[in-house]
Amino acid sequence: MKRFKFLLLFLVIQVSAQQGGMWIPSLLEGMNEEEMKTLGSKLSAKDIYDVNESSLKDAIGHFGGGCTSEIISPKGLVLTNHHCGFSQIQSHSSLENDYLKNGFWAENMKDELPNKGLYIEFIVRIEDVTNHVLSGVLDTMTEKEKQSLIDKNGNAYQKEVVKEKWQDTKIKSFYKGNQYFLFVTERFEDIRLVGAPPTSIGKFGSDTDNWVFPRHTGDFSLFRIYANKNNQPAEYSEDNVPYTPKHYLPISLDGVSEGDFTLVFGFPGTTDEYLPAVAIEHLTKNFNPSNIAIREAALKVIDAHMKASDDIRIKYASKQARIANAWKKWIGQDLGIEKSEAIVKRKAFEAKFLQVLKEEGQESKYGNILPEFERLYKDFAEVDVKRRNFIEVFLVTNELMMMAFRTYQFEQNVKNDPEALDKAKVSITNYLKKIHKNYDSTVDKGVFENVMPFHSSYVDASIYDKTAYTSLDTALKLFEGSSEEILKRINEDSAYVFAKPMIEEFYTSTLLEYDQKKSPITALQKEYMKALLEVLPNERYFPDANNTLRVTYGQVRGYSPRDAVSYNAVSYLDGVIEKYIPGDYEFDVPQRLRDLYKSKDYGPYADVNGKIPVCFLGTNHTSGGNSGSPTIDAHGNLIGLNFDRVWEGTMSDVYYDPEICRNIMVDLRYVLFIIDKYAGATHLIDEMSLVHPKK
Ligand code: ARG
Ligand code: ASP
Repeated sequence: MKRFKFLLLFLVIQVSAQQGGMWIPSLLEGMNEEEMKTLGSKLSAKDIYDVNESSLKDAIGHFGGGCTSEIISPKGLVLTNHHCGFSQIQSHSSLENDYLKNGFWAENMKDELPNKGLYIEFIVRIEDVTNHVLSGVLDTMTEKEKQSLIDKNGNAYQKEVVKEKWQDTKIKSFYKGNQYFLFVTERFEDIRLVGAPPTSIGKFGSDTDNWVFPRHTGDFSLFRIYANKNNQPAEYSEDNVPYTPKHYLPISLDGVSEGDFTLVFGFPGTTDEYLPAVAIEHLTKNFNPSNIAIREAALKVIDAHMKASDDIRIKYASKQARIANAWKKWIGQDLGIEKSEAIVKRKAFEAKFLQVLKEEGQESKYGNILPEFERLYKDFAEVDVKRRNFIEVFLVTNELMMMAFRTYQFEQNVKNDPEALDKAKVSITNYLKKIHKNYDSTVDKGVFENVMPFHSSYVDASIYDKTAYTSLDTALKLFEGSSEEILKRINEDSAYVFAKPMIEEFYTSTLLEYDQKKSPITALQKEYMKALLEVLPNERYFPDANNTLRVTYGQVRGYSPRDAVSYNAVSYLDGVIEKYIPGDYEFDVPQRLRDLYKSKDYGPYADVNGKIPVCFLGTNHTSGGNSGSPTIDAHGNLIGLNFDRVWEGTMSDVYYDPEICRNIMVDLRYVLFIIDKYAGATHLIDEMSLVHPKK
């Protein structure tokens, strides 16, 4: 009986420690530190984040603003996902040098490839500046007045911050504007491509396997940070040298087993964990379905063309991946919301909130929040979908409309400010060149025919036969000469004539209505957050993701998505071979990898069972932006590389359910195996520090 009680207690702790959450690294002392210990961590809060000594955070960089990366050698070698480095790998690729298809491995530092525009940013320190930022802000002010004082306070504070001259600062809002933190940052801009496996490893399983488990993707690529001679951030220069980091992550060769502690450290982008039930309903019933349908219509065309031609496959690879990724995620999100009964549970939570309001006599203060949400969302739903449909058609899927949209901005710009002409010309010229680098008008016309009906019943594909935008030469000619000449020319182009009234309507009607209906929701959400913190103070609150550095932790664990189905936590190379389809664009396997599998030439990278691990699952609460994040073991060593979540769990962005939310990581031993045994890039392995924490 005693034993049983003990077990029960243990179970309760286990579950409560695994409720998700993305925590601010500077605030881990106390509750988070305790929870992590319960889950098996040997790390202190200071091991993870410290201002005075080097700590784990010094190895974690925001990669290009959208992904995470980590330093894994004293020479600034950086690991991130293949899909995070994808556009760089693609931009160095051509039919002759097809790095997407064949992989790329720099044999020495001279061969490492620079990437214009790419940067990696580190966090030097984090400071709570709420009191400064909110000083003088009164409840009686309008939202606009509040915001302008907040901005003013923030700017004034940043001017006084003590920092090095190459460092930057930014202030970010947390808990919907109820708390503010300052970040001192350091941004490196000379980032070179070092290595990437072929797509058949780095993107193995492609869209069919994207967002699902079992997974067998070696989703990694390698870069290197270069600094000036003083080890400081600098623009690209041949004279730059490899960066010597404050900290780099040792790599564990001992692997993972079910129940091991895991910590994922990175830059999740956006989550919405405190939405009212009515907002989640709107998301799954209106918003997602219409976005899913538009992207599905676009993908139908793009996929067919990519399968039929290598040239188009290369040109559209990056675009297709971007479109397909969110499309599939939204489908999973809807499924997960349904399966986890997120709406029912959120309603129950709201009932509890109302109950406590009543008990504490706070109804007059906060009692209007939930009914007000109901009213506002009813009013907001239609314009939210309408605006998003426009964005999907004119800014995401159809490139001719994207060019027309840019032209509209050009026209407004130049009309309002004739002086702006030269700059505007450069900007649109660069944009057109970028589009045309990977453009095919037949594909795009097919996309147009499929997606435009979602925005308008007027669909005239004959514009493709007459417009100048479908070839770069003629498109560029539109923008030659004086502004009168340009404005006349563009306003005679069939595509622009077609698109302009729609874009005009978007700006002068849709967007205005959207802003007008969205802003009271934003203000109410802030009020709701404040009310929750005050009325139900013992709940477990973490701030929504906002592109800032966060820690999330859990354990290695499989899951059961449906009755009688359960997934192991670890997948192996055997699964790659099982999925192998010769010549297939998603499931082909390089000969060399098949040979290694046959000869079992695994070096020190095999698991205790003699097999090569590929991916594993954990209960870490991650989101978009966590791709490329390191998975760190109980001692601070690198064991995995985060890259995805399981399909049924992608609703973790609005509702985290510990039963079915799992993040997917590449096992670091697979990364090392590919670098060493597959690519023979042993010089890279030699740079790293490989450790045996379990032995
Ligand atoms: N689903 C992952 C994330 O959201 C991986 C995406 C890249 N892979 C792909 N097949 N598109 O970004
Ligand atoms: N694949 C995502 C990313 O690129 C991660 C996720 O959404 O789980 O950041």
